[in-house]
Amino acid sequence: MTDALATIAHHGVVPVVTLHDADHAPSLGRALIAGGLPVAEVTFRSAAAESSVAALTRTPDLLVGAGTIVTAEQVDRAATVGAQFIVSPGLSRAVVDRAAAHGLPVIPGAVTAREVQSALEMGLTTVKFFPAATSGGPEAISALSAPFPQVRFMPTGGVTTRTLPDYLGLPSVLAVGGSWMIPSDLLTRQDEAALTGTIRHSVEHVAH
Ligand code: 3PG
Repeated sequence: MTDALATIAHHGVVPVVTLHDADHAPSLGRALIAGGLPVAEVTFRSAAAESSVAALTRTPDLLVGAGTIVTAEQVDRAATVGAQFIVSPGLSRAVVDRAAAHGLPVIPGAVTAREVQSALEMGLTTVKFFPAATSGGPEAISALSAPFPQVRFMPTGGVTTRTLPDYLGLPSVLAVGGSWMIPSDLLTRQDEAALTGTIRHSVEHVAH
């Protein structure tokens, strides 16, 4: 397991965040550190994605990944601004190969036996189970773990604080991702104290 994946496994949850203004990144970075969750997946769904990744990487001790990466060219852009891991909603050899060329760990989406088997053929044993809630949830992950005991899943998509324990209770779950940890109104208001409190609350959820 790479250092980035070990860090993700250690924390158990990965906040997925879409920043529309890179000026919001420094307060988010400080809140993640203060809240005890020094990791973020920044989606490539906004014009500010690259500048936000670049800004967040200036937060000491924060692990910053790029999410919603669907093309090899986006992998290049994410690598250029310092992303430390790549997350993809689906399974694409082009994305996986380009991430490997940059020496970056990649977590592609896989929710069927066929997709998981293809990920294994690409040399990967960690996949994003996305969208988790509508792809069968914890029961589907359990079922996939029987033929694929070597695979670790990162369920993301539709996970809530209510369903989080069901995922975290599975030995095959590396960590759970989701956007619920970073409420967008707190982010845009740059309410660092409230963000820190919300993040700390998420960390406490994982501990229980
Ligand atoms: C992602 O890109 O990982 C998802 O959009 C996050 O899903 P969520 O918003 O349902 O947590």
